[in-house]
Amino acid sequence: MTALVTGATDGIGLHTARRLAASGRDVLVHGRDRERVRSAVEAVRKHARSEKQVIEGLTRDLSSLEDVRALARDVVDGRGDVSMLFNNAGVYSTKETRCANGHEMTFAVNVLAPFALCGLLLPTLAANARRTGTKSSVLNVASISAAPAIDFDNLRCEKMFSPHGSYAQSKACMKAFSYELYDRLARGALSGASVEDLNVFSCDPGTVNTKMLLAGWGRCGIETYEANDEFTIMVDDIERNGAKHNGAYFVNAAPQPRRSEAGDVDQAKLWRLLEQETGVVYA
Ligand SMILES: NC(=O)c1ccc[n+]([C@@H]2O[C@H](COP(=O)([O-])OP(=O)(O)OC[C@H]3O[C@@H](n4cnc5c(N)ncnc54)[C@H](OP(=O)(O)O)[C@@H]3O)[C@@H](O)[C@H]2O)c1
Repeated sequence: MTALVTGATDGIGLHTARRLAASGRDVLVHGRDRERVRSAVEAVRKHARSEKQVIEGLTRDLSSLEDVRALARDVVDGRGDVSMLFNNAGVYSTKETRCANGHEMTFAVNVLAPFALCGLLLPTLAANARRTGTKSSVLNVASISAAPAIDFDNLRCEKMFSPHGSYAQSKACMKAFSYELYDRLARGALSGASVEDLNVFSCDPGTVNTKMLLAGWGRCGIETYEANDEFTIMVDDIERNGAKHNGAYFVNAAPQPRRSEAGDVDQAKLWRLLEQETGVVYA
């Protein structure tokens, strides 16, 4: 069973990749910088249970949708048995930055990339679940900093940019995207995958003293080695109770109550917008 962890060169992603290797899984360690990926692969390999486990690195920049597509191809061609997608990579931008394609950086990396990557990998994740008889899983890393509602008039920072505002919007989108993916699977709206094939979760991974937290909030969290434990407990719990909690958003490893009907309308609207922006249409 192969797990893909995006943004596994640092912080929570690196620790999650280590933990997955320690549990015996094959792990694809993704990052944006070749040298950092190489050193993360080395670090993760040290935690593998057996020499037979495949621990491989993939270098792609998620601020580019071309790279997201290339990453999906790398995975499908190289490790077609992928059954877990940890959409973890994220940025906190301290100043307004535009990607080559004009998208604001936070929106591109934290929202467009995970949405597109998941859509591109969905057929493979579903096919592997049917082949092995074991559900595949998608875990989208959101945050307790998520905004209470999506501001569609400023999603791409058309009106204004603020570091916290943009980040909070991106995490609200991650929650909404996860809920909508689950809802679509549950009502049979996707021809290539169903809730029988996939568990879909989003989570707040805890407040952890990573470089992102230090840049945006200061040292107000737990240390990363402790986060590893906390996050691990949550991932284990999600896997064990997957069917029971399928579709849930987790905080402190506990599934949270679902949101209002207004949230349903917003998540459906967001989905259409993300399909348009990324060109990835879920089937
Ligand atoms: N830390 C917290 O307290 C906290 C709380 C709630 C949610 N989160 C979420 O947890 C996730 C992990 O964050 P973290 O705190 O572990 O931050 P981090 O230490 O800064 O790690 C972020 C990871 O994402 C990668 N990344 C950033 N931009 C990328 C791009 N354009 N293409 C490919 N990879 C890229 C980074 O690569 P480099 O190594 O090259 O920088 C790194 O591997 C994020 O989604 C974050 O929003 C964190």
